[in-house]
Amino acid sequence: MIRSLAGLALLAAAPAWAATPQQLANSKSCMACHGMTQKIVGPGFKQVAERYRGDPAAAAKLAAKIRSGGSGAWGSLSMPPAAVSDAEAKQLATWILQQK
Ligand code: HEC
Repeated sequence: MIRSLAGLALLAAAPAWAATPQQLANSKSCMACHGMTQKIVGPGFKQVAERYRGDPAAAAKLAAKIRSGGSGAWGSLSMPPAAVSDAEAKQLATWILQQK
């Protein structure tokens, strides 16, 4: 009983907003379809960063796509909409664009 309560307290001590983008990507299952450098179902995040390097509108564009899903940019497979907040989508998009 005491041990399980302590376990709950630990979980509660890690609020979602304190997560790093990497932890967020893991917890939102992004990494099931994306590798950091290699394609799985969707493109590797490094490939995404390379494609949009120098595009000042990319962060907003990718954040919107993460939230609503879509297809056609990399092939015919589509990405499902992700259950992330607007702020989380921006955080993920910014992080993805920083991969090199
Ligand atoms: C079920 C598999 C799947 C999951 C889960 C998934 N993606 Fe994707 N993702 C894809 C596919 C497929 C594409 C390529 C879509 C296209 O061609 O337009 C893609 C494309 C992208 C792109 C590039 C979009 C573009 O227009 O260039 C980004 C950025 C991205 N995903 C981020 C994420 C993030 C962040 C998450 C987690 C919140 C996530 N994805 C979860 C399959 C997935």
